[in-house]
Amino acid sequence: MLDIATIRKDFPILQREVNGKPLVYLDNAATSQTPQQVIDVIVDYYHNYNANIHRGVHSLSQEATDAYEAARQKVQQHFNAKHPEEIIFTSGTTHGINMIANGFASMLKAGDDVIVSALEHHSNIVPWQMLCEKTGATLKVIPMNLEGELVLSEYDNLLTENTKLVFVNHISNALGTINPIDTIIKKAHEVGAAVLVDGAQACPHIKPDVQALDVDFYVASAHKMCGPTGVGMLYGKKEWLTLLPPYQGGGEMISEVTFEKTTYADLPHKFEAGTPNVAGGIAFGAAIDYMNSIGFQAIADYENNLLEYATSELLSIDGLTIYGTSDQKTSVISFNLDGIHPYDVGTLLDKMGIAVRTGHHCAQPIMDFYKIPGTIRASFSFYNTKEEIDRFVEGVKKAKLMLS
Ligand code: ALA
Repeated sequence: MLDIATIRKDFPILQREVNGKPLVYLDNAATSQTPQQVIDVIVDYYHNYNANIHRGVHSLSQEATDAYEAARQKVQQHFNAKHPEEIIFTSGTTHGINMIANGFASMLKAGDDVIVSALEHHSNIVPWQMLCEKTGATLKVIPMNLEGELVLSEYDNLLTENTKLVFVNHISNALGTINPIDTIIKKAHEVGAAVLVDGAQACPHIKPDVQALDVDFYVASAHKMCGPTGVGMLYGKKEWLTLLPPYQGGGEMISEVTFEKTTYADLPHKFEAGTPNVAGGIAFGAAIDYMNSIGFQAIADYENNLLEYATSELLSIDGLTIYGTSDQKTSVISFNLDGIHPYDVGTLLDKMGIAVRTGHHCAQPIMDFYKIPGTIRASFSFYNTKEEIDRFVEGVKKAKLMLS
């Protein structure tokens, strides 16, 4: 059992008011809030050892380098990567995906297929479209059903010896569906294709094991899991990262530079050109420590209770439709009220101090599938409470009355 009252004290922002009402923050799928323990680590870095890393012989640089590399090891252990150099610090999930898309540009050709799913965020669609435009490869899509699940029998039909890459999210940001990535990865490997999993929405709720999954690439963002914005991770199997060309050229990613020829640094530095987000990387490690101190099983159990409670309360409202009804989902509820634009509901909820996301959630193909302009999305974290859900449901009822 989680002691939510104590946990909430770790998050200064949860104590504030918005529009004269205590904040109810239900936009955790967009970004999670940051506990004091992580904020303290960022402040400590700037107060005490702010320096560039891997470059200086002086003590501050050494301290910062040690802390940054210790954070890399925390990320490695958390995701159970075999080697620390398989973890590349990025600016976030989108950055990691683009690194890999860019890397494959020289390896694909016309006649090759790449497969994405109908449930993807734009960040896991557009980079692959750009890759296909560059290389002449063909983009194919695993379709979804009305419950918001991928249709795996169709996936079987798409896979051929021409399939080179498969991209799928672990959990849909718009609907909360947990995709069967272990099956997706296994089937892709049977035809010799590599798989990239976008774990941005999974990592706040579960602890992925990249070796058990046998996934080729896994990407995530710190800010969805109690860390700061502007930092994330790319896991890649060592063989792949060794084979792929670097994404950006610059300082720190080289071994030797002459005007005739440059050789690249070893992993992970080959993919980390320029001064990285040092404080962000260190704070990412602290966020992982924080989440592990609460425990992922306890987080999942608690959030599932919130999800069940909120779902049944919302469904008691006439004219409310929930999109994404798989029994495999995390604490995300996307819904609409008949005849009312999601934006109007979101705006009224904000006046009541309740933060939700409205719109297409960077997943327009999902909205097109349901033939809707967007949804109201409430996404819960382990620091939310049943009382907050009651205020949210009351808010939705009030908004419905005002807008009907
Ligand atoms: N991808 C984030 C979301 O779903 C921003 O809200």
